[in-house]
Amino acid sequence: MKVPMLDLVAEHAPYRGELQVAFERVLDSGRFVLGPEVEAFEREIAAWIGIPHAIGVSNGSDALLLALQAVDVGPGDEVICPTFTFFATAGAIARLGGIPVFVDSAECCYNLRADQVAAKIGPKTKAIIAVHLFGQCADMDPILTAAKKHGIPVIEDAAQALGARDKGRQAGTMGTLGTFSFFPTKNLGALGEGGLITTRDASLAEKIKKLRVHGAKQKYFHELVGGNFRLHELQAAFLRVKLKYLDSALKKREQNASRLIESLREKWSAVMSLDACVCQGKGEAKQGKPGSVFLPFSCHSGVGEHTWNQFVVRVLGPGQRDALKQKLSAQGVQTEIYYPRPLHEQDCFQHSSQSFPFTEQLVKEVLALPLLEKSCLLLP
Ligand SMILES: Cc1ncc(COP(=O)(O)O)c(C=O)c1O
Repeated sequence: MKVPMLDLVAEHAPYRGELQVAFERVLDSGRFVLGPEVEAFEREIAAWIGIPHAIGVSNGSDALLLALQAVDVGPGDEVICPTFTFFATAGAIARLGGIPVFVDSAECCYNLRADQVAAKIGPKTKAIIAVHLFGQCADMDPILTAAKKHGIPVIEDAAQALGARDKGRQAGTMGTLGTFSFFPTKNLGALGEGGLITTRDASLAEKIKKLRVHGAKQKYFHELVGGNFRLHELQAAFLRVKLKYLDSALKKREQNASRLIESLREKWSAVMSLDACVCQGKGEAKQGKPGSVFLPFSCHSGVGEHTWNQFVVRVLGPGQRDALKQKLSAQGVQTEIYYPRPLHEQDCFQHSSQSFPFTEQLVKEVLALPLLEKSCLLLP
């Protein structure tokens, strides 16, 4: 591949030595589980995000599970979430016996339609999960307003959006709880797996810390049924190194995204973009001819508000996305489809006959392009 989706070896090269020093520090300490590196990382990332409590956990999927458990989601409880997201968002609800209540996606950012959330709230609604997809925040105000009115907690699934902002507010600081993933493809990637939960609520933080270690504050005395959801000491040490470079990495992604947008406008003939955010269901959704490519749209106008975790275009017309994917692959450019099937159509969730028209169209059109410095030079 001339242009892979991600080049982690090249990304780590400038601070390879620092990662090796971090490895040796942990090796020499003989402390591998919930030691000083996890504690220091939790302090440092809490300060970076601007939140009082940050709890390191095993991965982003478990972060969601723990967040839902912390707000007492259990069998039969409904949790509102988007149908266009990674499986873990709804998987965590189902792992607790809860029922995901899906919401369609917005045509601008592909995040859940915030204006449709209030209408989904019913007597069994126990929580709302807003996902900040592809690196930009969902439109949080209508969601927070509806949740407040009904006294329902909001969990921000910010797995893909560490550092993103909505009207200046950091992802993971707006809801009751925020969850993050440190999977290697994320804005801050571990050299393995990791996750994080953020909250302003000291008692929820305390509860999550207990749930992380089988529900016990004091070893072998269990107040709750939790599990082993610990962040590894070694991963925390690596994440501490990478956190120092996060601001510059995000800036670079934003520059690469602007360059790629310019370059696609020049090189590809049928490129289109929306004129305005249509998150609220207002405004005209633009139509285009088959083969037209919609560029990604940034609903948040401030510099640095979108973190560009993925650069996702829409290719209009039956079969056109797959044809473009094949053409790019033949030219050595890797692409990915996030996501080819909505969650309401997954075999394990076919309990609902509801349809979500825009998402059903979207899954046939989305294509993620590589966002490396060389992407705009090498894209045909
Ligand atoms: C939106 C979203 N939520 C949750 C997760 C789960 O994170 P992890 O892979 O660390 O379990 C991911 C990972 O891709 C994600 O994209």
